[in-house]
Amino acid sequence: MKCKVTNKIIDPFMSFGKMPVANGFIKKEDFRNEFFFNMEVGFSEEVSLFQLNDHPKPELMFNEKYPFFTSSSKFMTAHFKNFADYLTKNFINSNSKIIEIGSNDGTLLKNFKNLGIECVGFEPSKNVSDRANSSGIKTINKFFSSKNLSEAREFVGKTDLICASNVICHIPDLNDLIISIDKMLTKNGSFVFEEPYLGSMFEKVSYDQIYDEHIYIFSASSISKIFKLYDFELVDVLPQQTHGGSMRYIIKRKKRDKKSKNLIKILDNEKLRKLDVIESCVQFKKDCETSKIQLIKKINKLKDQNKSICGYAATSKSTTILNYCKIDNKTIKFICDTTPEKIGKFSPGMHIPVVDMKYFKNNITDAIYLFAWNHKEEIFKKENNLKVDWFSHVEL
Ligand code: TMP
Repeated sequence: MKCKVTNKIIDPFMSFGKMPVANGFIKKEDFRNEFFFNMEVGFSEEVSLFQLNDHPKPELMFNEKYPFFTSSSKFMTAHFKNFADYLTKNFINSNSKIIEIGSNDGTLLKNFKNLGIECVGFEPSKNVSDRANSSGIKTINKFFSSKNLSEAREFVGKTDLICASNVICHIPDLNDLIISIDKMLTKNGSFVFEEPYLGSMFEKVSYDQIYDEHIYIFSASSISKIFKLYDFELVDVLPQQTHGGSMRYIIKRKKRDKKSKNLIKILDNEKLRKLDVIESCVQFKKDCETSKIQLIKKINKLKDQNKSICGYAATSKSTTILNYCKIDNKTIKFICDTTPEKIGKFSPGMHIPVVDMKYFKNNITDAIYLFAWNHKEEIFKKENNLKVDWFSHVEL
């Protein structure tokens, strides 16, 4: 495989096998045409970048049927309010222009709009971008890429802040992304984004962070090296709790700001943990294999005891676990979820029925696999009367 940034050959260090589109919840009549790809991962030491080899075209995932509306999560809505407050305090003034890449239904941008600050979102998925536009958040229904920048002509070279959350790891062509950011930002502008963190994924062995939409899992070392190839520099980082452990990255043009003490500390820590070299990936592969064995053991034990199992939350992440560990609808009876676009369909690849919360409440099983383990707090608050065997692969 080739590193998507340097274009040099690298060897994949692990395959998770045949994988469908993680968010591709499917109707029975479409089972025969389901799309699969070989989910292999590799690591470029030159830019310390953890990345997928093959992945489906972004158009296959971000289209008129994107099944996730950010505003549906109270926790994420609160997180974006905090993120907006932080950005307002540190990077903009009342005359600034702001762009959000992958702005979904406008949950983050709404906070800026309320302050009367000029902002625009780029959002390729039509259903979510329509929702944003209808609530008055200006949203361009296109990918943020050099060929689409003219859609926001008045922002070219005049944008003080570009922000993104859980989006940059979806973009195959990072070179084009950085060139586009360069074109849009003012001289003193900032690019601030958050992504699931490689250090957290390795620590928790949360390999379910890896799926078609997540082409990269970043670290401070990788972001620092990639942006250095251009007119940019990573100047600060802030660890976040979202998505089971994320990192907020602050990028400025070169020589505009000094590296923060916190960044230096985190880069040193990554060196110590060998997150900047392939050795940590070799260990991660072993950890994934052990985690799979433990999970299968746990499930077999439940089956031996005649215990019924369902899944809670039909997350994109669950697709990786279910297909890598080959857990199908004979083992997990159903997965409950709140998203209307998923209910009545089947999980990608393993074809476990997705049901609504009412069905779940009327058919409680002996054990529940918490696929949204990163929302455990929010979910346990709602479901705390359910004294069943809750489990997940990150807590075995
Ligand atoms: P994601 O991790 O791929 O973004 O998907 C999160 C899914 O979890 C989404 O389909 C909604 C579902 N969910 C619930 O059904 N109930 C909940 O309480 C939470 C937090 C999420």
